Amino acid sequence: MIFGQVILFRRLTTAKRKLHLHQYRRIRHRVIKPRWSTSTAWNKDAGKSLRNPRLFLAYKIFMTNSFYNHTMQANIPSYVPQIQGFHSRADFSTLTNVFGPSPLVRKALPSLLKDPMNLYPMRNPVRLKEKIASWLTIDPSMITVGNGSDELIAIIPQVLLEPGDHCVVQTPTFFRIIESLHRMKGEVLTVPATDETNFVLGQRYIESVFAASKRTNARITWLCSPNNPTGETIELDHITWLSRRVPGLLVVDEAYQEFFDPKNNLSATRLVDKHDNIIVTKTFSKAFGLAGIRVGFAISSPHLIDALERWRLNFAISSLSLRIAEAALDDISFLQKVHERMDTERTFLFTNIDKLPQLKRGGHSKTNVFILKHTNGNLFDLLLKRGIVTADFNEMNGLEHLGFVRITVKTRSENEILLQALRKTANGHKKF
Ligand SMILES: Cc1ncc(COP(=O)(O)O)c(C=O)c1O
Repeated sequence: MIFGQVILFRRLTTAKRKLHLHQYRRIRHRVIKPRWSTSTAWNKDAGKSLRNPRLFLAYKIFMTNSFYNHTMQANIPSYVPQIQGFHSRADFSTLTNVFGPSPLVRKALPSLLKDPMNLYPMRNPVRLKEKIASWLTIDPSMITVGNGSDELIAIIPQVLLEPGDHCVVQTPTFFRIIESLHRMKGEVLTVPATDETNFVLGQRYIESVFAASKRTNARITWLCSPNNPTGETIELDHITWLSRRVPGLLVVDEAYQEFFDPKNNLSATRLVDKHDNIIVTKTFSKAFGLAGIRVGFAISSPHLIDALERWRLNFAISSLSLRIAEAALDDISFLQKVHERMDTERTFLFTNIDKLPQLKRGGHSKTNVFILKHTNGNLFDLLLKRGIVTADFNEMNGLEHLGFVRITVKTRSENEILLQALRKTANGHKKF
């Protein structure tokens, strides 16, 4: 018995040594600190014995849960709280549609609130699927719905990746894509679109993505168009070309598609009928202006959709959210208005920014986000000093140390506030 405890204790301390000290401290705070009320005596020497319940819990977590260890050691960042306390008019980091949802959604709300709340939502939200299907002219069996497209981005690797499988991802892009592949122990190879080529995702870029997928026999190749953070798009012809050649699955994140293509004429959803290795993820969070309701969806061949559906949590989306998403689809012409307004505001910002010295845009955004840097200083800090919040991309995958911030295009009066601050940084700022 004592011998067994000694072995367990030695294994625990070895596991502890393997973790970096700061990771261990974090675990200590989270896991070991809570008080225990137990009949087992806790004394000064108890740390040396596994009769100590704290050590026993730590042992169980360290030694038996390989995904816990993996999460602590892999490249999965801790949650970082957003900067709080700024007036939302000065927050340009949000990624959302500042014009909000269709007025018809607000109008429908009182009647939606009459739905019974004591019942569970539909496990299979048929009505919403049918509406999406008729909007995109596809079959409802080719649709699954998630708690935001974030849920689907997390589930795709869970269902379709084996630990150690190779995956190819563009950079810079939405960090959750790489994170979800890392979570499932995928071997991620990134294909950078660079500052030198102005982040263009053209034919040459797609050929390098193909070369990387072929070389690694990638199980998943993942693209994002329009891309977060650059707003660059990939032509449908290039996606078609790639889908015919990649050795495995091709996932296309189209969270921002409707800002630039409200009718989805240029969307990869046009390909899913003929190419059964494509998954397209989309969302109500962006152009529909409904990030708060957390509804996203994926379009693919029925057999892949079936696999994703089996894995999903039951009732992951509230009935109210499902009904709001349905109401949004009753006013599809709203997307055209969002597209036009966003184009006007983006052009207004770009025309004015391009007149300012020392500021350089990255890429040619066609959506509601773009990246910008100061050629002579740290733009994130310079704007923050003037009360403007942007998303700092200086440490982000594929944009390291380039000094870019990501900016969300907002309403005219808000864009004027941003321009005023940018003028001050461009004119008044000397190198520091
Ligand atoms: C490219 C991209 N895809 C997906 C998402 C996730 O959006 P949601 O979970 O709100 O659908 C985001 C959110 O910012 C994003 O930028």
